[in-house]
Amino acid sequence: MARGERRRRAAPAEGARAVEREARVGSGRRDGRGGRARGAAGGAALAVVVLALALALSGRWVLAWYRAQRAVTLHSAPPALSSDSSSPAVAPDLFWGTYRPHVYFGMKTRSPKPLLTGLMWAQQGATPGTPKLRHTCEQGDGVGPYGWEFHDGLSFGRQHIQDGALRLTTEFVKRPGGQHGGDWSWRVTVEPQALGTSALPLVSLFFYVVTDGQEVLLPEVGAKGQLKFISGHTSELGDFRFTLLPPTNPGDTAPKYGSYNIFWSSNPGLPLLTELVKSRLNSWFQHQPPGDSPERYLGLPRFLKWEDRGPNGQRQGQGQFLIQQVTLKIPFSMDLVFESSSAQAGGNQALGQLAGSLLTQALESHAEAFRERFEKTFHLKEKGLSPEEQTLGQVALSSLLGGIGYFYGQGLVLPDMGVEGSEQKVDPALFPPLPLFSGVPSRSFFPRGFLWDEGFHQLVVQRWDPHLTREVLGHWLGLLNADGWIGREQILGDEARARVPSEFLVQRAAHANPPTLLLPVAHMLKGGDPADLNFLRRAFPRLHAWFSWLHQSQAGPVPLSYRWRGRDPALPTLLNPKTLPSGLDDYPRASHPSATERHLDLRCWVALGARVLSQLAEKLGETEAAAELGPLAASLEAEESLDELHWAPDLGVFADFGNHTKAVQLKPRPPQGLVRVVGRPQPRLQYVDALGYITLFPFLLRLLDPNSPHLGPLLDVLADSRHLWSPFGLRSLAASSPFYGKRNSEHDPPYWRGAVWLNINYLALGALHHYGHLEGPHQTQAAKLHSELRANVIGNVRRQYQATGFLWEQYSDQDGHGMGCRPFHGWTTLVLLIMSEDY
Ligand SMILES: *[C@@H]1O[C@H](CO)[C@@H](O)[C@H](O)[C@H]1NC(C)=O
Repeated sequence: MARGERRRRAAPAEGARAVEREARVGSGRRDGRGGRARGAAGGAALAVVVLALALALSGRWVLAWYRAQRAVTLHSAPPALSSDSSSPAVAPDLFWGTYRPHVYFGMKTRSPKPLLTGLMWAQQGATPGTPKLRHTCEQGDGVGPYGWEFHDGLSFGRQHIQDGALRLTTEFVKRPGGQHGGDWSWRVTVEPQALGTSALPLVSLFFYVVTDGQEVLLPEVGAKGQLKFISGHTSELGDFRFTLLPPTNPGDTAPKYGSYNIFWSSNPGLPLLTELVKSRLNSWFQHQPPGDSPERYLGLPRFLKWEDRGPNGQRQGQGQFLIQQVTLKIPFSMDLVFESSSAQAGGNQALGQLAGSLLTQALESHAEAFRERFEKTFHLKEKGLSPEEQTLGQVALSSLLGGIGYFYGQGLVLPDMGVEGSEQKVDPALFPPLPLFSGVPSRSFFPRGFLWDEGFHQLVVQRWDPHLTREVLGHWLGLLNADGWIGREQILGDEARARVPSEFLVQRAAHANPPTLLLPVAHMLKGGDPADLNFLRRAFPRLHAWFSWLHQSQAGPVPLSYRWRGRDPALPTLLNPKTLPSGLDDYPRASHPSATERHLDLRCWVALGARVLSQLAEKLGETEAAAELGPLAASLEAEESLDELHWAPDLGVFADFGNHTKAVQLKPRPPQGLVRVVGRPQPRLQYVDALGYITLFPFLLRLLDPNSPHLGPLLDVLADSRHLWSPFGLRSLAASSPFYGKRNSEHDPPYWRGAVWLNINYLALGALHHYGHLEGPHQTQAAKLHSELRANVIGNVRRQYQATGFLWEQYSDQDGHGMGCRPFHGWTTLVLLIMSEDY
């Protein structure tokens, strides 16, 4: 498993056990209970005692059943979005989109039974054997850099992809009209990477359509296997037509000679499309333009013939898969046009087909509009940022928007059984089928929804298009269960599932995640846009339930303290058991997990939540909720209480509290490998000495008064290069910490133990900006640190982007290089808001 795979995941051992149990123990457990009950009935002499025991047992069984049911029951509050909010009638402009972020290029409809389109390509004859077929974004396939140069989140995008000797450009434009989501066109251009290349490669493009059943597709094919068009019908799209135009030279309109192959079958299931095409790409054909010498290529069948056997010969599921292969020498361009009957009849036909020079014009005018709107929104040029920095900002925004996906399916949930660790004894259950419209952290590596990432994503998105953010937040709040819990990783649908090892599929209903969705909510409150406030009015009961669940379920050992549930158990192989729910995975915590722990970051998240929710309740006139939340917010923000629970006088900073010793080490112990050894002093209850991001939380979330005596010490830690300051941004763990750069186990390299992360640097910059604008003893220092840190972060992300063409998951605090997965167009895109100083 590649580096970073472990991110925000359950420990392998734990997860694997859960899934095994699902397969193995499921029914056995119930038999066991029945057995106990039968035993009770047998003891006549002790009938009364036994009866009482049986009642107690069945009472417990009922309670367990009830908890398990609630875990997968949806919350009863009215939905934040109406049930038809994604339909073409209500949101025609968002019906079609690049909502398949894990493919290099594809579009689909926002529907549980979508029509999907996509692109594959292969360079013929580059390597002996089967050509490398490109389809889904992969970390290790050698493609890249790739990403959106422009994407407006709605109707237009342009992406560049480098693949060895090839340079691909994929573009789309939508044209609204009618009642079914309107028309759209694609242009795919393939050119040589380097000019003046003598032998121009032969390339196959594959355009495909996939359906999910209950549709009509009528392909019309010419004598040479050339698809003239596909007419079709679905209940949501009405009548429509796809037309694939002949290839041309880029920027030209004269047709170029191409060879055609075509394949049509039942839909094998989305995760199997690549394999199916590979398995059918098995015959040699000749590509011979008039007057040229012939060249061999591997192709799909030449003629249209319906097949309903899958790659392994098995009968396949519902729906259809139709794919056209076009083979010719680069450079060339191809246009694919989708026309909706109702849009055509409504006036689009009179505008002319959106292809050729009309498409070129449309693409150009959209690009121009994007640039203008970008500057109007973010003011980078006005603020004096360089052209390179402006480009970086546009790419960041575009990649984030181009990463938005629409998913539909059922998650797997392990219920919260009320007693910690006891969920180990129950089976995971299926959550109801639900849609999720959401950004993703990485198209190659994390192409699905992650709860705490999404709050950061929407900070960027809402500046550009507040409507998109309402749609996304509304969908996330639709995932709320009866208790008020939302799973932190959403793996919905076959395509998403296919990318996740089975042991990581299960989400635990006892585990939380930072409530970052409240960050964009706070921004909405501040802005006061009536559409946002209307949305918040509808969303309030859900936001309230979500917050209340967090505040209650993660309560700590003493009032106003909080503890992340779900730390890893203290296995002998782990240096410091991880805390995945916190989002900061391997950031060091108390060395010996216990119920006495108090987690500083969680306490600060809850304080922020109480503040946002109580302000929201006030604003909306929710008097009852305001009366409950106001006092809670006030007590959580009271500095005396924070001091009492988290100020560590010996360390001179805020800290976690728990059963802890610094004397832990991983030592080689053959044959087990590395094993944790605990030395002296033995663990005892104390503040946890682990200087880093967590230390800063009261400052990061702006919970301190500008006159707080603790602000100075935190700024000192932040600004000290022995601790958090690096020339590339704030490092996650102090260079002075014994855990700095340390592996957590033999197979687990450091993650939040020194590297620079953009989400926390954004929070830090926001806080420095905040305190730099408030009168107080540290105002000048904060303002100065803000401008230095901002320059460091922007400078490094830009240099790494220029060197590699990617935004990265994290950056080295040693030399600044990008690390982890790429492209990472999730919260690293906050670099845009850092450039525009919008916090
Ligand atoms: C701390 O952990 C050690 C080792 O597991 C244990 O023996 C001790 O009782 C714990 N102390 C407290 C106060 O929980």
